[in-house]
Amino acid sequence: MRSHSVAAEGGTAAVLYPDEGDSIESHIWDTIKGSDFLADQDAVELFVKSAPEEIRLLERWGMPWSRRADGRIAQRPFGGHEFPRATFASDRVGFHEMQTLYGILQSCRNVEFHHEWFATSILHRHGIFQGITAVELKTGNFVLVRAKAGIIATGGAGRVYGFTTYGYHSTADGHYLAYRAGLALKDMEFIQFHPTGLVPRGILVTEASRGEGGFLVNKDGERFMKRYAPSKMELAPRDVVSRSEISEINEGRGIEGPDRIDCVGLDLRHLGKEKILERLPQIREMTMKFLGIDPVDEIIPVEPAAHYAMGGIHTDISGATEIRGLWAAGETASVSVHGANRLGANSTSLCLVYGRIAGKEATDYVNDGHDGGELSKAQALSEESRVYDDTLHGSGSENPYEIRDRLQRIMDKHAYVFRTSEGLKTALREVRQLKEEAYRRVTDKAKEYNTNLEHVLELDSLLETAEVMLVSALARQESRGAHARLDYPKRDDANWLKHTVARKTADLPSIDYVPVKITKYLPTERRY
Ligand code: FUM
Repeated sequence: MRSHSVAAEGGTAAVLYPDEGDSIESHIWDTIKGSDFLADQDAVELFVKSAPEEIRLLERWGMPWSRRADGRIAQRPFGGHEFPRATFASDRVGFHEMQTLYGILQSCRNVEFHHEWFATSILHRHGIFQGITAVELKTGNFVLVRAKAGIIATGGAGRVYGFTTYGYHSTADGHYLAYRAGLALKDMEFIQFHPTGLVPRGILVTEASRGEGGFLVNKDGERFMKRYAPSKMELAPRDVVSRSEISEINEGRGIEGPDRIDCVGLDLRHLGKEKILERLPQIREMTMKFLGIDPVDEIIPVEPAAHYAMGGIHTDISGATEIRGLWAAGETASVSVHGANRLGANSTSLCLVYGRIAGKEATDYVNDGHDGGELSKAQALSEESRVYDDTLHGSGSENPYEIRDRLQRIMDKHAYVFRTSEGLKTALREVRQLKEEAYRRVTDKAKEYNTNLEHVLELDSLLETAEVMLVSALARQESRGAHARLDYPKRDDANWLKHTVARKTADLPSIDYVPVKITKYLPTERRY
């Protein structure tokens, strides 16, 4: 329940009202165009067709979806969607979804929870999944879990950045587990920057604020999106809006926000108090608590904040990884439905759809009698030694908390909305230097709830994942979706209509490419 999904705010996309003009075809096209044509089109089709049933299933399980005046489930507009198809429960969508799922799981007698365990490695033999190793945080015990099948569902990698909407637990641990086990990480150069991170810390101000009619303004009070996306304005996809905001700031039309940070303004004043209280109560509560700003009367200072990794563990269309018996689902996976840029509200739907698909696949696999066999004791012992001898009792001299801060500053500066070869190379050099620092220093030697140890283990994940992001970003010499290179400003379908696939080696990650699955939607210029 401390996963980051709990903090999702604005909506879950699905086609609910074909009778009112929405269509599966339209959602598929919006998603593919939004992805800057890097999405695998067969996967998008499967996702879009499966999403409506997930909304109804949640409803049957007690999800308190907001309602329209006619009693039907309400939906609101979201960026890049041609139809208002973001299904919502006020501005606390993820909170209610997680509560509903958790509630229903409590009624399943055959579900056992292992709260507060930290998985440290994937065990497999000859490419067949056997289980995991983990630290039970409550006791500090090292545990071997033998399993016939597994699903990695560990969420995002956003804490690689400092200015981010992500919670503190989004430390790329699932990515790193997979990467160390020999699995490929796909399209890791594509990081989504959400246009409305609250300045100065990056807390999410939901896109629903714009879906409900909010404006983005510069220092002259001008709705600057008319220059960049004249037809969709504030409801263009996030990559477009984030670039527009930074262009305004770079061209001297930004607003000076808290801590003298240059930003732009989100103006909700014209929505009126009643609508803000009904549709965006959490946003009002947050801006008042954190900044003393009441959006009923004042403009909210916002800036693009790291929000989502489009890439992740390379899977096939059913969420299967390259290790037999192991699947990945949700943000940690790259199926790829989001391609180079995810549309808002498509992530929680993807979690629901691929949670079901991966769950069913894993169950069928086990029911078919597959079993990875006895665990390798040697593999488990070497992992135990990594966690306890090398890390808990490591001889590091550096402060790991400072190393994490330094990493985040590097990524915020050089791997943000606009990138250059020079900046990415600097970032890569600095991240590699950080990897060499003796950061394995755990001063707290307690066994129980050793968050100091957890922090250092997370730092391994963050540093390695950042390196993959940077190497992948440097290699991709074009601009596509959220990956905007000032030195290669155009999309280049002739050379780059392909997925990046990174694998761990003893040195830098190796980079390879796999084709994008195109069914019938040919790449065109994106205009909004
Ligand atoms: O703005 C939001 O509410 C975020 C939604 C999403 O990332 O899908």
